[in-house]
Amino acid sequence: MSASPTVSPAAAATFRRCWADLEPVGREADGTYRRLAWTQEDLTLRAWFRAELATRALVEHVDRAGNIWGWWGDPDADGPGIATGSHLDSVPGGGAYDGPLGVVAALAAVDELRAQGFTPHRPIAVVCFSDEEGGRFGIACVGSRVLTGALEPARALALTDDAGTALSQALEDARVQGDDSAPAPEACGPDRQALGRVARFVEVHVEQGLSQEASGDPLAVGTAIWPHGRWRVTINGTGNHAGTTALEDRDDPVIGLAEFVLAVRRSARQHEARATVGRVLVEPGGTNVIASRATAWLDIRAVRTESIEAVLADLAFAEPVRESWTAGVDFDDAVVTDLATATHQLGLDAPRLGTGAGHDAGILSQAGIPSAMIFVRNPTGISHAVGEGAREEDCLAAVAVLARALAQWSSARAAR
Ligand code: GLV
Ligand code: MN
Ligand code: MN
Repeated sequence: MSASPTVSPAAAATFRRCWADLEPVGREADGTYRRLAWTQEDLTLRAWFRAELATRALVEHVDRAGNIWGWWGDPDADGPGIATGSHLDSVPGGGAYDGPLGVVAALAAVDELRAQGFTPHRPIAVVCFSDEEGGRFGIACVGSRVLTGALEPARALALTDDAGTALSQALEDARVQGDDSAPAPEACGPDRQALGRVARFVEVHVEQGLSQEASGDPLAVGTAIWPHGRWRVTINGTGNHAGTTALEDRDDPVIGLAEFVLAVRRSARQHEARATVGRVLVEPGGTNVIASRATAWLDIRAVRTESIEAVLADLAFAEPVRESWTAGVDFDDAVVTDLATATHQLGLDAPRLGTGAGHDAGILSQAGIPSAMIFVRNPTGISHAVGEGAREEDCLAAVAVLARALAQWSSARAAR
C-alpha cells in the first residue's frame, strides 16, 4: 500500500523525547534492559510516567493493584471511557520496546489529538500497568490480574523473588522510597471502580516475531493470544564431592535436569507447542559440588490448549507444579474491526495476527473489557532480548492509527 501515515510535529517530538528519556533507565552494558517490577529502575519509570500525566493535566487514578491511569475527561461523570497503554517493566535482559512502546504511543496519541484540536466526548485514559512481565516474582501480568480479580491478592503478595523478598515487602519498600502509587499491601486487591471506568482497551506493542517484516506490513491488528502456562519442576539428588564420587555412585539431579530439558523440546515439536526452559536453579551451585537439587521453570504455549495438555502429559514423569495458567483469548471483534478500519483509512493494510506472547490486553479482555492490540513491525523479530526494535516511522504510524481510533470511539455516543 501507500507510504506510512504520520503524525503532527508535536506528537512526533513527544515520541522522540519520551524515547530519549527512557533510553538510559535500566540499560545494562550489553544493551539489554533490566527494569524488574518495583526495583529502583521501575520506580524511576513510574515516577517518569506520573510526571508525563501531570504535564498533560491528565487526572491520575491509581487503582488498588498499583496500575496508574491518567484520564483526559472525567470517567466517573462521562464514562466509561477508552483506555490505551502498556507496561514499563521488563524481563531480565529485555529489549527497549516491549512495554514502553505502548506507553509512549499512548502519550503521543493524546498529544496528536490535542494538536488536532480534538475534545473528547468520552474520556480517554493512558495507563501504565504494574509488574507485567513477571520477571521478578514469576507470574506475569500481576497488576492487571489483581485488578480484575484473576489473581488472589494474598497469593500475589506472597510471591517471592530470587532473593526471597516477598512482593508485599517490595511494595512496602517502594512506598518507603516515596512511590505512593505502590499499593499498601493491606489495600491491594481487585478494583471494580477502576475497571468500571473502562469501556475499551487498546495496547500498542512491538511484534514479537517476523510476520510483519516478512509481509512488509508496518502494522497489524492483534486478534488473539494463545493459551499459556508456567510450571516448576524440582529434581532432588544427593550432594557430594565432584572429585571423589565415582560416576556410578552419583545421584546427580543435573543429569535429570538435562534429560527433562531434552524431553521438553521433543514433546513441544511433536505437539506443535512452544515450550521453553529459560530459568534453572542448581543448588547449592558449586563447580566442584555434585548438586543436591535442580529446579527448572517451564513455559508452554500453543494455539490450542490440547497441545499444551499433550506436552504436559509427556512430561508428567517430572511432576510439573503449575505456577500460573492463562486461557487463550480472542479479542473483541468490534474493536479489531475498528482498528483495522482506522488503519485502512490511513492507507495501510491491516493484517490480523494472533500471538504467543502474554499481554495485559488479554487479562482485561478476559475480565469482559472489549480489547485488542496494534502490533508494530519488528525488523529482527527478536523480543525479550537485545535485538528487539522497531522503525520510528512504523511507531508513528501506530500513533496515527491509535489517535484516529481513539477519536472515533471518543466521539461516539455510546462507547460500549
Ligand atoms: C510476556 O511478555 C510473555 O509473553 O511472557
Ligand atoms: Mn509487553
Ligand atoms: Mn514481554
